[in-house]
Amino acid sequence: MRSLKDSPIGLLDSGMGGISIWAEIVRQLPCEEVVYWADTAHCPYGGRSREEITALVRKGVEVLLGEGVKLIVIACNTATTAAIATLRAEWPEVLFVGLEPAVKPAAQATRSGVVGVLGTAYTVNSEMFRQTTERYATGIGVRVIATAGNGLVEAVETGCEDTPQTEQLLHRYIEPMLEAGADELVLACTHFPLLRPAIRRVIGGRKMRVIDPAAAIARHTAELLREHGWQTDRTSIGRSRFMGSGSAEEIERLRARAERYRTQYADEQTEVTEA
Ligand code: DGL
Repeated sequence: MRSLKDSPIGLLDSGMGGISIWAEIVRQLPCEEVVYWADTAHCPYGGRSREEITALVRKGVEVLLGEGVKLIVIACNTATTAAIATLRAEWPEVLFVGLEPAVKPAAQATRSGVVGVLGTAYTVNSEMFRQTTERYATGIGVRVIATAGNGLVEAVETGCEDTPQTEQLLHRYIEPMLEAGADELVLACTHFPLLRPAIRRVIGGRKMRVIDPAAAIARHTAELLREHGWQTDRTSIGRSRFMGSGSAEEIERLRARAERYRTQYADEQTEVTEA
């Protein structure tokens, strides 16, 4: 029987967004195996209800537990916001790592006192987000401009990250933040780091730092494994497996996109936060 140390890390997202977290996990923990489950058949989650998202995520968790994972990264802000409390209550013995918008580090770092947050409609309209914002930003006098990036998840899923239409959408969402003086942009959806080249073009020469939580999430995952003595002893590179609710073709596209992202961005992760 395999010991827990050599069990894989589980990772879950509605689709391709988890790639931004996966790339950092395999960079920081290269010897770990990872099983990535994408709910491609039900992506996007952002416009769904809490009940729907919770039911979908629960299925993904069951699949990952069936694969014998030692920890589950909910690599999706929307799924974390909607479901993580329920998941932790239903599986108290399972270690979950969740993602919350990095409002705190942005609010601490801003010089202009204005912070932009780009997430899904579900995340930015949630009570959890309202509380986080009040606690870490508005409570210390920082203004938060939160925008639902409608259409952006679909752009990533359909391979349209770098089209003029997607850049136009990003322009529509980010320009008002820049005009209001925001100097920090929190990417509060794991799909959005995959749009980084287009985001950079929209920001242009202006001063705005883009916050991607991937590095902090990977560090937190490593810490949890260390704390529990569950880090692998293997010294060879761990394998990643991709699976999900979509067709074999969709899963293959996910795998190929993940590899491309890893090559392109492995050394580029910039700023970080904790979930
Ligand atoms: N990647 C996701 C997130 O971080 C969810 C996108 C979606 O399915 O709407 O919120």
